[in-house]
Amino acid sequence: MTPPVLAPPALPIRTERLTLRHVSLDDLDALRYYTDPEVCRYLPFPAADEEALVKRVATMAGRRAPSLPDEVLSLAVVHEDTLVGDVILRLRTRADGATAPSVAEIGWAFAPEHAGRGFATEAATALVDVAFAHYPLHRLIAHLDPRNTRSAALCERLGMTLEAHLRRDWPEADGTWTDDLVYGLLREEWPAR
Ligand SMILES: CC(C)(COP(=O)(O)OP(=O)(O)OC[C@H]1O[C@@H](n2cnc3c(N)ncnc32)[C@H](O)[C@@H]1OP(=O)(O)O)[C@@H](O)C(=O)NCCC(=O)NCCS
Repeated sequence: MTPPVLAPPALPIRTERLTLRHVSLDDLDALRYYTDPEVCRYLPFPAADEEALVKRVATMAGRRAPSLPDEVLSLAVVHEDTLVGDVILRLRTRADGATAPSVAEIGWAFAPEHAGRGFATEAATALVDVAFAHYPLHRLIAHLDPRNTRSAALCERLGMTLEAHLRRDWPEADGTWTDDLVYGLLREEWPAR
């Protein structure tokens, strides 16, 4: 049976201080934090050079209507007309071959100059809300390197549970392997706002 095509969520999403909207090609300069090795330190790809940044922004701009496993919703996070970061929702598994995705992964990256003001928490909270309110999911997960303590703190603030510490599960660019933490949040644990 052909799986259903999922409609995209209604955008923009507004929170107290932020607007979440699609990424556009005009966001290239604001997304330059993807060229910063510190920002990308625990991301599953290296810091971008100029060519990779152009490709990355084009990919992000196209991530608007995920429906199949591995497809992504990519949202720019804007505070007072300034793009401060971005969040993603990646659809993962289906309960079977015919139903809609039931597990999805969330992720985030914020410009260092906008860190420490709760923007990532506010945006990720809105992302969790739209994930459960709009998509037929029963579970959200986040994967992170255990050294990424700021991301772990963010998962905890979202009410996620540390479910697994997988040892040497993630391949590094230099051929070594790093550990992977899995945080999870079930639909019944989601405080619908
Ligand atoms: C992960 C990441 C988004 C976390 O950023 P962050 O600045 O720690 O998170 P927030 O924006 O939610 O800010 C939280 C901080 O703001 C403070 N804060 C200030 N005002 C606040 C408010 N109104 N509401 C909530 N928190 C507020 C919090 O107390 C917290 O401070 P603390 O770190 O001293 O405890 C950021 O480190 C990042 O982009 N890293 C690089 C990319 C990355 O690794 N992504 C994840 C891969 S798995």
